[in-house]
Amino acid sequence: MGISPDLPERVSLREVGPRDGLQNEAPVPTAAKVELIDALSGTGVGRIEAVSFVSPRAIPQMADAEQVWAAVRRDDRVRYSALVPNLRGAQRALAAGFTELEVVVSASDTHNRANVNRSTGQSLDEIAELVEQAHASGARVTAVVATAWGCPYEGDVPVERVLWAAGRALADGADALSYGDTTGMATPSRVQALVGATRSAYPDVALNLHFHNTRGTGLANVLAALQLGVADFDASVGGLGGCPYAPGASGNIATEELVHMVEDMGVATGVDLEAMIEAAARAERLVGRTLPSQVLRAGPRTRTILP
Ligand code: COA
Ligand code: ZN
Repeated sequence: MGISPDLPERVSLREVGPRDGLQNEAPVPTAAKVELIDALSGTGVGRIEAVSFVSPRAIPQMADAEQVWAAVRRDDRVRYSALVPNLRGAQRALAAGFTELEVVVSASDTHNRANVNRSTGQSLDEIAELVEQAHASGARVTAVVATAWGCPYEGDVPVERVLWAAGRALADGADALSYGDTTGMATPSRVQALVGATRSAYPDVALNLHFHNTRGTGLANVLAALQLGVADFDASVGGLGGCPYAPGASGNIATEELVHMVEDMGVATGVDLEAMIEAAARAERLVGRTLPSQVLRAGPRTRTILP
């Protein structure tokens, strides 16, 4: 249709279902994780966050990260990355052969302490060292600032606080920036405010956005960001994820819903929608529960009913 000449011609998507999704589901066998990643590699998606190297006590679901990564059929059309919470995680990821890392730090202190047992400032200090070691190994690091639109413990997080955390990581050498809407507190106007302030403060930085659909605003947030020229998003196949311990928590925006919406607006994703829907059906079988993706239920908009 190409209704919006002001939108980016294409977006880069990072599929995070195998990590952000599966870390929040009941543990699944290593072989099933590998199968899901292999299926995703064939969908045309450009990037996959395959695993995280975190404490197995904190997240038992990711305890087999090395084994998963060793067994994945790596497709040279895909860039694979790993999430890490600290230097130790980065060293594991580098030893496993990853050349792209996402290091996470929450803008709000309380969430950062709950998530990684450090203050935001302590994590940022560690990130400086982590970036140095990653660069020495030839790897690139994206700094993911979590709770960028709000914190489940502290409520609203000031834009200035998010810019401060982002600025420190960038000054210490982070190659790219991502904002995580950890518990789905963003709305389109808050997306405009934070993206606008970030562009003013750090005009040349590559920016990825990571939305959760916890309050139903996920795709609206994507549209607001697209209109500001953001062209890099995370999404999770089937809308996988959510937290079994947090009532109302939900996964990322579903990759196939994002693809379905933006492709019809003339924004290319590289993703084959039917293949992504098939991968979502596989993810649903894997976790054994109905996933929230509506495009998985209904199919592409042009799917017709046989008479
Ligand atoms: N991978 C594996 N083990 C790790 C590790 C890592 N990245 N970092 C630390 N450990 C181990 C240490 O070796 C130590 O093991 P030991 O008790 O057998 O000696 C133990 O964990 C405690 O180390 P410490 O540095 O004190 O960590 P901690 O207990 O303060 O936990 C984190 C900090 C960051 C490791 C932990 O909170 C974590 O993994 N959080 C990740 C949370 C997450 O993934 N959230 C969702 C994604 S945003
Ligand atoms: Zn997330």
